[in-house]
Amino acid sequence: MKAILQASNINKLFKIENQSIEILKNVSFQINQGEFVAIMGKSGSGKSTLLSILAGLDQPDSGSVKLDQLELTDLSENQLAKSRQQDIGFVFQSFYLIPTLTVEENIAFPLQINRSFDAKRMDELIEKVGLSDRKKSFPHQLSGGEKQRTAIARALISQPKILFADEPTGNLDERNAESVLNLLIELQKEFQTALVVVTHDAGIANRADRVIEIHDGKIL
Ligand SMILES: Nc1ncnc2c1ncn2[C@@H]1O[C@H](COP(=O)(O)OP(=O)(O)OP(=O)(O)O)[C@@H](O)[C@H]1O
Ligand SMILES: [Mg+2]
Repeated sequence: MKAILQASNINKLFKIENQSIEILKNVSFQINQGEFVAIMGKSGSGKSTLLSILAGLDQPDSGSVKLDQLELTDLSENQLAKSRQQDIGFVFQSFYLIPTLTVEENIAFPLQINRSFDAKRMDELIEKVGLSDRKKSFPHQLSGGEKQRTAIARALISQPKILFADEPTGNLDERNAESVLNLLIELQKEFQTALVVVTHDAGIANRADRVIEIHDGKIL
């Protein structure tokens, strides 16, 4: 199987009151094309830190992150922004929609920066996430599940190679969590997007192709 993402010997320190704390210690693994991987571990074990580094939102102190041959740790801030925009999707626990934009404007937002607008893809994606009748709604008019489905469509509009989700169902009730998870898996399969989900939910991990467990900053 072909690796889409290769993390090698990632180290990350945080300095708190003159003390350095090692959060990630020589973390190495790979994610294959189209694969669904769950990352699990206790609170504070470094899962969100790791995901931010893999997605180019944060830099490791040492180590390498290769996304499809591209070494993220060597890129300038501008190049990184471009890579995040074209190749990487990210979904957060707390949605981060832009409150003044409608559902469809939020979803189209990543395209406005440098890509041509594909209205057909936009409509198909809105249909897939089940928001055709909510296109003109603003985030404050949406349920949590609808907000997260908007965020998922936004993350996928640029057809990224890999989608990262940090506890994407953490703020949802059981029924919405289930439908958001089903949607993520359906889209991963349909678009052959690699999917990396940080979760505390054993039910989510059970459906992953592989589970990576992190303990005290190390992969078990
Ligand atoms: N910017 C920062 N500065 C200092 N310490 C930080 C920073 N970000 C995270 N930490 C610390 O690093 C550790 C790992 O944090 P991280 O958010 O990666 O954990 P997590 O596994 O995602 O936890 P949770 O399951 O609670 O979300 C924690 O002890 C946290 O306090
Ligand atoms: Mg976290």
